[in-house]
Amino acid sequence: ARSHPFYGQGHQAGIETEQQRYSVYMAFDVTSPVASDLQVLLARWSGAIAQMMKGLPIGAVEPEGSSAVALDTGEAYDLSPASLTVTVGFGPKLFDDRFGLAAKRPRLLADLPDLPSDQLQADLSGGDLSLQACADDPQVAYHAIRDLVRMAQGVASTRWTVLGFGRASAGKGQSTPRNLMGFKDGTRNIKDAADFDRFVWVDDDQPWTRGGSYQIVRKIQMNIETWDAAGIGDQQDVFGRTKAVGAPLGGKKEFDAPDFAKRSGDAPVIPVTSHVALAAHENNGGVKILRRGYNYTDGLNRYGQLDAGLLFIAYVNDPQHFIALQTRLGRVDRLNEYIQHIGSGVFFTPRAPGPGRYIGQELFT
Ligand code: HEM
Repeated sequence: ARSHPFYGQGHQAGIETEQQRYSVYMAFDVTSPVASDLQVLLARWSGAIAQMMKGLPIGAVEPEGSSAVALDTGEAYDLSPASLTVTVGFGPKLFDDRFGLAAKRPRLLADLPDLPSDQLQADLSGGDLSLQACADDPQVAYHAIRDLVRMAQGVASTRWTVLGFGRASAGKGQSTPRNLMGFKDGTRNIKDAADFDRFVWVDDDQPWTRGGSYQIVRKIQMNIETWDAAGIGDQQDVFGRTKAVGAPLGGKKEFDAPDFAKRSGDAPVIPVTSHVALAAHENNGGVKILRRGYNYTDGLNRYGQLDAGLLFIAYVNDPQHFIALQTRLGRVDRLNEYIQHIGSGVFFTPRAPGPGRYIGQELFT
């Protein structure tokens, strides 16, 4: 079974890493006003994450003495590392005055502005810290978050969480999975190292931020029943791609280049308000974003309808790239008829700590 290293000189795991099948995402509020509490939490989290990524428990599962409380909750004890990664993020409010970290704020880390067609719920948005656990075994991902929550007691409290049951994007060399609308998702994702350097990794800021990235998270609910009742022609026009093969309209194969100029009679073959026409780098000044999202479900809503969607996660070296794109999509994307953005967050995910160090250590020195 695969295991990824937590420590290193480079980027944090879980961003460029080949995308695992499952994920648990959680955002926290730091409740302690004491900077050293935050510091100790980050140090303890780092040690624990490093252990769990190796597939090891974070302490005794069966401690000595019948009244002793186990350090590790145990449900991943016999399981392999399952490619676990836990990616840690810092929210904008961590750099307000309260911890004396204002001078360390990543240059572009700020709350996202209100965006067109936002229907955000406060209890699904924001946070001071984020954890994204991804693994090829859902129990391994859940165990990691659960044990990290436990360590945070008295310092940080849980704010919102999303359980992702299937990957909805593709990295280099990976097959393209499908989102809950039945379409291939991740076909034209960032895959080349040169694009990572250009669009994902930060390198023009304070030294401690270099090699990090900004994580943008959006909980996007889908109107599944309405979607499922839509004709196939409409569905394909919404995305600008075919459903089974995932080819751009007017093309034949999944990886054919979309031809936005191709016309049939008066109209472009790929509608101008289709999702890919609006989102493609060719039509956005060359800008690309890394997508690393997951399909989620919360069961049924109170009307008995399927409550599910996409936990959209993007990594960018400038949040403005996402903001500009979503401003455009939020106004005219044909997909809007079938989705609502209900949760949102922005976090800075620093590079990995070197051996013997912990994540964010540079904040306190
Ligand atoms: C492409 C689905 C939201 C940005 C695609 C594709 C699908 C898709 C099926 C085509 C395949 C591909 O190249 O990956 C969805 C669904 C969404 C959603 C179901 C919401 C529930 C978003 C949002 C953004 C975004 C919020 C950014 C603000 C992109 C980009 C592409 C893309 C940049 C690549 C376009 C290209 O270069 O051809 N999406 N998407 N998507 N999407 Fe989305």
